Amino acid sequence: MFPFQYYTPTRVVFGNGTENQVGSLVKAQGGHKVLIHYGGGSVVRSGLLGRVKESLAAEGIPFVELGGVVPNPRLSLVYQGIDLCRREGVDFILAVGGGSVIDSGKAIGYGMANEGDVWDFYAHTRVPSACLPIGVVLTIAATGSEMSNSSVITKDEGGIKRSCNTDLARPAFAVMNPQLTLTLPDYQTSCGCTDILMHTMERYFTNGGSMEITDSMAEALMRTVITNAKILHDDPQNLDARAEIMWAGSLSHNGLTGCGNDGGDWASHMLEHELGGMFDVAHGAGLAAVWGSWARYVVDHCLERFVRFAVNVMGIEAGSDARATALRGIETMEAFFASIGMPTRIPGLGIVPTHEQLEEMAKSCAAACGGKKGSARVLHEADMLAIYEAAMKD
Ligand code: NZQ
Ligand code: ZN
Repeated sequence: MFPFQYYTPTRVVFGNGTENQVGSLVKAQGGHKVLIHYGGGSVVRSGLLGRVKESLAAEGIPFVELGGVVPNPRLSLVYQGIDLCRREGVDFILAVGGGSVIDSGKAIGYGMANEGDVWDFYAHTRVPSACLPIGVVLTIAATGSEMSNSSVITKDEGGIKRSCNTDLARPAFAVMNPQLTLTLPDYQTSCGCTDILMHTMERYFTNGGSMEITDSMAEALMRTVITNAKILHDDPQNLDARAEIMWAGSLSHNGLTGCGNDGGDWASHMLEHELGGMFDVAHGAGLAAVWGSWARYVVDHCLERFVRFAVNVMGIEAGSDARATALRGIETMEAFFASIGMPTRIPGLGIVPTHEQLEEMAKSCAAACGGKKGSARVLHEADMLAIYEAAMKD
């Protein structure tokens, strides 16, 4: 067991109709002027934005709006948001959308509360000392950004995707109504389920410490997400499954499933961030496209864990050959990804990177990680390239 801190300051308001409480939640946080931040229009079409505005108006809270956040949210819009908030005297940011909107809102919050260029915090040349308070109305179960310490932003020039992780940006509240996710395209639902699984898998595949209570909760979460992802693939309107997935998404990335270990592996996420930055692929799909190749590359260095995963999560009967059992677990996981429409290799993302581009991604990934990454197996640039190369093959 490793010593740990578990910090989850976010008030979760979960259930049907909870978006109508937004006004009173902002008021309770002392917000006087709100930025409503949203994406490409799904919240306009669904009527959610209108309900959020009504709720703020009912509490007499003035607001300004900034839509247009794209998946893999861009730094250029963050700068626009900071300018707008400064001009308008905004003191509370309300993100209405998914991980991209929340992360963009967190970046605006950093930019408002600190001097200088906000990108410095993502380039890791400076550390922020404050952030404006953030509230969330979540519309997609995926990143867990509604409770996480993380914000991931892409710099427009060069497609450099980087994260800034501090407790300052953990949202003050997260409104979660599973009904709001019923309008999601099936592909986004599956991407979200994959990301949720991966946030716990990253923490689970480790060589650094463990606690049975954490591992057992992690396994229950993974089994629950797999079961409900399959249900949603066949029956997207199943509200019970939507609720299970939504809560799992928050629990998977608020730190709970890593308590007592070294923090986990996270190499798959770093590998995906390069794909997202260079090719603008959906985060969950990018994760599924590299995971199997990563897993086969590291399995011998973390064999016990892969066997436990195969048996306790994927339902494989343990054989006498531990490696064979572990590999069957990986294969079964890949078959699950495929069954919900996720790619299990990079070309399945609809892109064909050249070898030079693979090399560039490996180089950039290693640089972003400070030279090495991983706990299941420590990876350097050459290992990262080998995994990208493996993920190009059938
Ligand atoms: O922009 P709109 O029109 O709203 O459409 C969005 C977008 O096209 C759509 N969508 C969202 N809710 C919907 C909906 N469409 C219909 N009905 C709804 N209810 O879904 C698309 C994807 O939205 P996005 O916010 O990009 O998805 P997600 O939540 O998966 O966020 C992905 C981003 O978060 C980062 C990823 O790297 C990526 O940039 N991550 C953030 C993390 C964090 N902050 O803790 C951790 C993750 O590991 C991840 O890196
Ligand atoms: Zn993720």
